[in-house]
Amino acid sequence: MDVKIRLINLKNEALQEVNQASNTKHLEDLRIKYLGRKSQLTDLINHIKELPEDIRPQVGKEANKLKNEIEALIKEKILTLPSKEEKLPKLDITLPPFPFTIGKSHPISQVLAEIINILQNLGFHIALGPEIELSYHNFDALNIPPDHPARDMHDTFYINNETILRTHTSPVQIRVMKKQTPPIRIIVPGKVYRKDADISHSPMFHQVEGLYVDTKVTFSDLKGILTILVRQIFGKETGLRFRPSFFPFTEPSAEIDISCQVCKGKGCRVCSYTGWLEILGAGMVDPEVFKMVDYSIHQYSGFAFGLGVERVAMLKYKIDDIRLLFENDLRFLSQF
Ligand code: DAH
Repeated sequence: MDVKIRLINLKNEALQEVNQASNTKHLEDLRIKYLGRKSQLTDLINHIKELPEDIRPQVGKEANKLKNEIEALIKEKILTLPSKEEKLPKLDITLPPFPFTIGKSHPISQVLAEIINILQNLGFHIALGPEIELSYHNFDALNIPPDHPARDMHDTFYINNETILRTHTSPVQIRVMKKQTPPIRIIVPGKVYRKDADISHSPMFHQVEGLYVDTKVTFSDLKGILTILVRQIFGKETGLRFRPSFFPFTEPSAEIDISCQVCKGKGCRVCSYTGWLEILGAGMVDPEVFKMVDYSIHQYSGFAFGLGVERVAMLKYKIDDIRLLFENDLRFLSQF
C-alpha cells in the first residue's frame, strides 16, 4: 500500500512544483527530477516486477498514468513561460525590422561629391571658410561697398554690425589670397545663407566657389574648365552659353547657361521658353579685389566662379521644388 501513497505524494509534489516553475530552465530541472532516468517514478516502474503480484498491475497502471500526467503538465506549462530568456538577449522592440534598409547619401551630398571630384581631377584643392563671417570678407573686400546695390540682392542675416552669416562662398577667396601667394587653384564647397524662401529659394543652400590665380590665366581657361565641369555633370551633348553679366568682384563677368534639360533646348515652361537655364556665375578676378589682398595686378590674373549646388541637383534630377531637398521625407530621398 505504501507504494500507492508514494505515488500520490509524488503526484502532489510534482503538480505543485511544475505549476510554480518560473522559467524554462527550472521546468527542465523538474522534468529531470520527476521523469528522468534517476527519478523516483522511473525507479518505481523499473522495479515493478519486485512488487507483490496482486498489486503489480494496478501500480503499473497508476505509475504510467502519473508519468503521462506530469509530461502533459510540463508541456502545457512551457507554453506559458517566456522561452529561453536566460540565453537570448531581451527582445528590443525599438530595433528596426528585418530586412534592414541601407542608408544613402543625401542627393545634395551626392551632387557635391560629384562636383568636387571633377574639379579635383582638374587640379583644384579644397579650401574651407567659416559660415559666420565678417561682413568685410563677404562684401567690402569683394568690392561690394556698404551702399552698393548688390548688397540688396543678398538678403543678409546679420549677427551684429560686422558679423553675418555668409551669403556666398566668395569670401573664402579673400581669406585664401590673404594667406597665400599664387599659384592658387582652389574650390570652396559649403553652406551659405540668405533671407529668402520659396519654391526655388531656401534660407540655407550650398555653393561651390572656384578660384584660379596665376601669371597667365585667361578667359579661355575659364571657358575650358567650366565646359568640362558642366559636360561631366550633365552629359556630353549639353549646350553652353556664356552671357555677359556683372559681379562686383569679377571683370568681365559672365553668367553661364546650359541647354534646358527638360526640353533639350526647344523651349518649355521650365526654361521660360528660352531653351536655356542659368547655372553659374563667373568672371576674371577684378583688379580691385587683387588690390585688397595686396597682389600685383600687373603680375597676376585669375578667374573665379560660383555654382549653386541645389540648382544643379534640381536640374539633374528634375526636382521642381527646392524644399523637397530639406524636408527629409524618405519617400523622396530613397529615390536617389
Ligand atoms: N558669389 C556669387 C553669388 O553668390 C556667385 C559668383 C559669381 C561667384 C561670379 C564667383 C563669380 O566667384 O566669379 O551670387
